[in-house]
Amino acid sequence: MNKLQELFINLFANGTEGTEEKPIKLVFSGKRRKSTEYSKITIRPVLIGGQISYQAEYSYEKKAIHKNLSTEETADFCLKVMEEDFKQANIFTSISDIQILASKVENPRITKKPATLSCSSCSNITHNRTKNHIIPDGVPCDFLVHLGVMDKSGKVIPKHYSKFRQINRYLEIVEDVFPYLPADKETPLKIIDFGCGKAYLTFAIYYYLKVQKNRNVEIIGLDLKKDVIDFCNKVARDLGYHELKFLMGDIADYTSDHADMVVTLHACDTATDYALINAVSWNTKVILSVPCCQHELFSQIKNEIHQPMLKYGILKDRLTEYLTDGLRGLKLESKGYDVAMIEFTSLEHTARNIMIKAVKTGSETSQKALKAQAQYEALRDFYQVKPTIEKL
Ligand SMILES: C[S@@+](CC[C@H](N)C(=O)[O-])C[C@H]1O[C@@H](n2cnc3c(N)ncnc32)[C@H](O)[C@@H]1O
Repeated sequence: MNKLQELFINLFANGTEGTEEKPIKLVFSGKRRKSTEYSKITIRPVLIGGQISYQAEYSYEKKAIHKNLSTEETADFCLKVMEEDFKQANIFTSISDIQILASKVENPRITKKPATLSCSSCSNITHNRTKNHIIPDGVPCDFLVHLGVMDKSGKVIPKHYSKFRQINRYLEIVEDVFPYLPADKETPLKIIDFGCGKAYLTFAIYYYLKVQKNRNVEIIGLDLKKDVIDFCNKVARDLGYHELKFLMGDIADYTSDHADMVVTLHACDTATDYALINAVSWNTKVILSVPCCQHELFSQIKNEIHQPMLKYGILKDRLTEYLTDGLRGLKLESKGYDVAMIEFTSLEHTARNIMIKAVKTGSETSQKALKAQAQYEALRDFYQVKPTIEKL
């Protein structure tokens, strides 16, 4: 079996069930022959008659033609496309982005990077995913019933469906990083949720690790607001979630000896930076952070070439957001983290949907980390900014 055949067979043999690598999108491009009339083929999972199938879209200059494939046919189809039509494939799965460059099909160059697309972006299979949620709809889950997301029979209340999906999406990501957390079952996993708010996510992480995975945990939710903290502590007590505590305080002042995982969801502006700074200072293995309200650099950005464009406030706002998170990502890389920016939920739920997923795998003296630090400095200087993350 050649390398490509093996790759496609593995990809589609895993199918879309369970926690295995799930194909989200495949794009074939770079024609082998000029005479091929279509410029690319895109394959996506679709639900046909309740079964996961795949749809291939042939892109012509002025039209698109679709062909449905069963799961069993798709691996062979992909191989044939690579042998006959295209030299390049970009494959997006739930775990990785794979690029294949195959001028010679028998000698392909295959590279893998952390995933940039989330399964929630394949809206066509949303219905199927419902069945596979980590917390399923239709089965009572104590904290979701208590917080009014489900009724007593376990049915999700329609107006809370988006929250329910968000929680499950978050848990899918926690499931992906779970293998990086300490495996020793005796020592509690210490997890801190900075800016926990009403703490749906904190309760969800507790439920997943303690109830579903049967791990010892010590989970802390921190927030500035007293009423929120009192409310969350009461819910935790009512539910008997004894290893979950909520504390009132400012992220920037919070001290701890360690944490195995630090999470933030929509911790505003520089609150995210302080959470990242804390996490790195504790050598935290896994960081999951969905930033929001990245305003800090808006009034700082200066760049002669970009200046004419930056007079448009909305563009400056978007650039500020990407620059802030780009600098955060590079700074984490410079501290020995493997960083991926992934879609948290699809844009239909919230525009604040980029997650920084960072796993500590190296050291800050590695070549990779030094390179990231140099890139960070170049980018920072290009826009003449001084972000809070610099304190790292
Ligand atoms: C948009 S809410 C998000 C709440 C929750 N994580 C969620 O996604 O549902 C942001 C929360 O962060 C808290 N927060 C903002 N800055 C903070 C800081 N410096 N220290 C602690 N909490 C902070 C706010 O009080 C607020 O509850």
